[in-house]
Formats: sequence, structure tokens, C-alpha cells
Amino acid sequence: MEFITKVAAPETIKADCVAVGIHSDGTLTAAAKRIDTASKGAVKAAIKSGDATGKRGNSVLLRNVAGVAAPRVLLIGLGAPGELSDRRYADAVKCAIKHAGSGSRELALAATDWAVKGRDDVAWQARVLVVAARESIFRSDELKSVKDDAAAAPATVTLLVGARDAKAEAGLRQGAALANGMDLTKRLGNLPGNVCTPTFLGEQAKKLGKECGLAVEVHDRKAIEKLRMGSFLSVTNGSAQPPRLIVMKYSGAAKSVAPTVLVGKGITFDTGGISLKPGATMDEMKYDMCGAASVFGTLRAIAEMKLKVNVVGVVVACENMPSSTASKPGDIFTSMSGQTIEVLNTDAEGRLILCDALTYAERFKPAAVIDIATLTGACVVALGDVNSGLFASDDALAADLLKASKTAVDPAWRMPVEDEYQDQLKSNFADMANIGAPGKAGAVLAACFLARFTKKYKWAHLDIAGTAWKSGAAKGATGRPVPLLTHYLMDKAA
Ligand code: BES
Ligand code: MN
Ligand code: ZN
Repeated sequence: MEFITKVAAPETIKADCVAVGIHSDGTLTAAAKRIDTASKGAVKAAIKSGDATGKRGNSVLLRNVAGVAAPRVLLIGLGAPGELSDRRYADAVKCAIKHAGSGSRELALAATDWAVKGRDDVAWQARVLVVAARESIFRSDELKSVKDDAAAAPATVTLLVGARDAKAEAGLRQGAALANGMDLTKRLGNLPGNVCTPTFLGEQAKKLGKECGLAVEVHDRKAIEKLRMGSFLSVTNGSAQPPRLIVMKYSGAAKSVAPTVLVGKGITFDTGGISLKPGATMDEMKYDMCGAASVFGTLRAIAEMKLKVNVVGVVVACENMPSSTASKPGDIFTSMSGQTIEVLNTDAEGRLILCDALTYAERFKPAAVIDIATLTGACVVALGDVNSGLFASDDALAADLLKASKTAVDPAWRMPVEDEYQDQLKSNFADMANIGAPGKAGAVLAACFLARFTKKYKWAHLDIAGTAWKSGAAKGATGRPVPLLTHYLMDKAA
């Protein structure tokens, strides 16, 4: 799908379909007014007939409207004027893509006059348009021998502008880069555990490095042993799949600029280990590498945008399996930091691999470290699938991430990491236990565990257990929080 801008009026644009917005109180956007005038009332007639309601989700396709060059006019309901939120704007774009008519190769969107509440930035509008459009055509049929019927979608989406606008064009390009990153994240998240193994992730990193000009290192078990990542390795004990520590460097700024380090949880399948998970929906634990996948996707997006930032992606990848060699509840391991950990529950494995990656991150003398992980079911209970959980030791970093999440339409909610919780991780036999009392602040405790390994830099943690994928009929990875992370880095580059 290609995205371009054109300077043209909606009634004269030569496209297969032109989409204009109307409101639920019967008022027309500027473009809808022009179509109505040119056609001597076709839009108002559609409203009067009751077909076009202007309500969100309502769309009406008119054909061969007199006085309009495009053979199709699509009326998109935007709801009440002044009530178009970020999310609803994206939904309106998706609605236009879906209902443009299967014969439409080129769809022109008169979307710059869809006034989004609190937004006044055509680059933002163009960016969100592309991401929404690309989201609506994403398919996951790589492993189907009979491919899904590709829903007929326009090959070209044209954003109508009043005058040539470099900002709109830049927004479209940023949107495409972001969508490419999100598609990569979704693809990796959706691939099953037998395909998407730690070894596979290592190969994908090499491939991404070649395509995007990243310096990539993939460390095998021997190298990980040499680094003394005893906590990470403990999680791999039960698995026949060898672990990988993947390091990907993007250098867009001067060498002297301290990098942002993104650390991703890459559990390619989480059975729970000896603390085995219940069987129902266990298949979804193939998504337990979505933190890692979001590091891949963010690097892909920022490389395509050529952002002037330095970023190091660190991915810890392994499987969490039960077997006679698996670690057992009560086992004690020494982390790379030297701190010892009593593993009271082998299903709390994410923190066990992340803590060593967080210690490893020290060597990059980072400006900030952000880890991304499908870490706790408790975070799903707390925030559902709307907000990612944001935990941070640094208020300024938290504020920057929250600001980015708003612009990116990729919401996050700040949660506490406070010393008051640390007592619950006390162990009688090691420096700490890997869990606290069940049912109490599980997402916070996981973050508090990680905090013990992040004292040497500014750190934030995103728990994406609820936001990285959808369950049910629309089961699949969402590509979040690639928009949040990418916008954070865009802000840094600016
Ligand atoms: N990968 C899971 C977290 C998870 C749960 C992600 C549900 C998405 C949906 C993680 O490794 C895990 O199992 N966490 C345990 C921690 C508990 C044992 C303290 C959990 O949340 O139940
Ligand atoms: Mn687990
Ligand atoms: Zn897990």
C-alpha cells in the first residue's frame, strides 16, 4: 500500500474513490460541502434518505455522482463535531479503507479536515492515517497453504491537501516506517514457538541488521556462560532449544551521544516450567517474546526514519520448559550482578532473564534503559488491554515516555516502584526470591525485582502483558508498544 499527497479538490480529484467526512448532527466537513455543492446536493440527499447518518462506523458509498470526477464518493461518519478522539480518527480511516469498494485501486482521503480533538498537526494526522490503514490490511497467513482472501484494499491511498505540504509528506513517510516496524513485531509475535525459536530470533536479528544497517551480535550459550548470566541460564535448563543473547546497535548520532538501551523479553514459549501453567490458552504463551519483537520493530522503524539517535537493542531469548533438567522451585542461582536468587516459582521467569540483560546493559553507559516485557498476568488484571504498565525509577524519563505514548496513541499508565514493596521479595536462603505473596501487587513486585538490577542508570520498564496482543477471535499480536518507543526516540532526536 502506497501513500501519497495530492493537491486537489475532492470533486475534481481523479481517483477511484474519494472519501469525505460527515457529522452525526448533519453538518458537513469542508470537503463534504464541496462534493455536495458540485453534485447539487448528493451528500445532503444521502443524509436525508437516512442512509448516511454521520455516526461513527457508518459509511455510504455513492456511485457516479454528477459533478464529481471520481466514480465513487464514500461518506464517512465522524460522529458529533468536536468529538473525534485519536482512536476514533484512526477508526474512521480504517472504515474508509474497508468500504472504499473492491474496485477502488486509488482511494483519496479528504482527511485533513477531520478535526481531531486536541490535535493541530498535519504530520501527526498523516502518520496515524498510515498506521491505521496498514493495520487494517495486515494478515498473518505466512503459514497457511491456502492464503486468506486478501480483502480488496486500495493500492494507493492519497491524502488530499490544500497546498503542497512537506509536513504531511514527512508524516506519511514516518507512518510507513512505523507500520513496517509494527508489522515485523506482529509477524514475530504471531509465529509459533516451534518456528520462532531463540535461534530463529538470532537469524532474524542478523537479517534485520543487513537490511537496516545495524551492527548485530548473536551470543550463544558458551558466550552467555562466559558472561556469568546464571539467572538467564537457569530458565533455559529445561529446554532443548539453545538460548541467545542478541545485541543490535543503531548508530544515528555522534559516537559521543550516550545510547538508549532497549531490553526485550524473548521467551519464545512459556510453559511455566516445573511450575506448569494451566492448559487453557497456553498456546498464547508463544507471544511471550513480544517485548523482544518490539525491540526489533522499533529498530526497524527508527532505522527507516534515519533518526539521529543511538540505540542498542538487547534481546534475551530462550524457552521456559519443564523437564528433568529444568530448574525447580527452591533452586538458587547467581545472577550476572552477583546477587543470588531463590526461584520459588519457575513461571516467574521473565524477570530471571531480564535481570541479567539489565546488568549487561551497564556496559553501554546508557542515557536510559527501557525494558519491554510481557511480564505479569497481574498487569493484565490491573490495566487490561488498554494501557501498558509503565514503571520508572526516574520521573523525567517516565514523563517523556508518557508524553510519547499520548502522541503515539499507544497508551501507558504509570505504576509505582517503591522500596516499601521490596520486603516481600525477602528470601531466607538467597539475596532475594523471585516472587512475593500471591495475589498482591504482582506487577509492582516484578518491577521491584528488576529495580534491584538497574541502580546504575535511568531505567523504565513497560509491562505489555495486556497490550501486546489480542485474545479471542481477533487473536494476534498488536505491534505495541512500537509506536510509543518510536515516538519517544523521535522526540529524543528532535
Ligand atoms: N509470561 C507470563 C506473564 C503473562 C501472563 C503474560 C498472562 C501474558 C498473559 C509470565 O512469565 C508469568 O508467568 N508470570 C507469572 C508470575 C507469577 C508466577 C508471579 C504470572 O503472571 O502469573
Ligand atoms: Mn511465566
Ligand atoms: Zn513469561
